[in-house]
Amino acid sequence: MAYAAGVDVGSTQTKAVVINEERQIVSRALIDTGANVVLAAENAYVEALKDGGIREEEVEYVVGTGYGRYKVTFGDTQITEISCHGRGSVHMFPGTRTVVDMGGQDTKAIRVSPSGEIVDFCMNDKCAAGTGRFLGAAAAALEIPLGELGVVALRAEKPVKISTTCTVFAESEVVSWLGKGKKIEDILLGVHQSIVSRSLGLMRRVGIEPEVTFTGGVTRNIGVVTVLNEMLGFAVNVSEESHYMGALGAALFAMDRIMAGRVPA
Ligand SMILES: Nc1ncnc2c1ncn2[C@@H]1O[C@H](COP(=O)(O)OP(=O)(O)OP(=O)(O)O)[C@@H](O)[C@H]1O
Ligand SMILES: [Mg+2]
Repeated sequence: MAYAAGVDVGSTQTKAVVINEERQIVSRALIDTGANVVLAAENAYVEALKDGGIREEEVEYVVGTGYGRYKVTFGDTQITEISCHGRGSVHMFPGTRTVVDMGGQDTKAIRVSPSGEIVDFCMNDKCAAGTGRFLGAAAAALEIPLGELGVVALRAEKPVKISTTCTVFAESEVVSWLGKGKKIEDILLGVHQSIVSRSLGLMRRVGIEPEVTFTGGVTRNIGVVTVLNEMLGFAVNVSEESHYMGALGAALFAMDRIMAGRVPA
């Protein structure tokens, strides 16, 4: 039994996934990327191996992806995160035609063919306004743990309209709404609506064709998932593994290489 691994070194978090020959996820790991990107890649990989009780020599091929993919020094090759998020999404949700990946620093909209090839993609340009970092800035200003942001936002009755489109100014706008006596949940829902409407803008540029699969760390935020479903008018595909979608796609490409290298019996 051979294993294949994918390591997605993101700007914010590093994800590693190991799959078996049936292309099922057998183990995974998630750590903060931090300043030492090479070490983050190694640590996430070692943790994933440990998680599955797998020895390094049992893994025949490793693909690195994400912004730090060239720092996966033990990787056999690198593949872009656009391709990997597309591949992982179509594998997990075969009806996928549009992918929206919301990470720490980037939001990407991707159109895929039925076989998982990339047809078109679009990403936010040098601006974190529609991404996890924007949510992080609001969380810090309101002193709410990141994991609770969405739940709190969904308690809102009268969301405020967030006017800033810049993460740098998000914190001061949030503080100024607090000063005007607005409720935390109303401010937060406004923040969530703001980032979802920006990501919808990106998705429209590639064309929104159902099914839509949502990937990246922001999928863990129930507020973003709910607002996205409302604004689209239908439910996106999302699962417990959605944060690992890029790493899964990388592992699937790695398994392709293993299978391609085998002499037919
Ligand atoms: N438990 C959680 N609850 C809510 N949000 C979360 C949680 N865990 C992570 N996030 C969000 O996910 C983001 C990280 O997502 P992800 O790992 O996809 O980013 P990345 O791949 O490092 O970034 P990029 O793709 O932009 O380079 C964080 O910035 C945070 O906003
Ligand atoms: Mg990413």
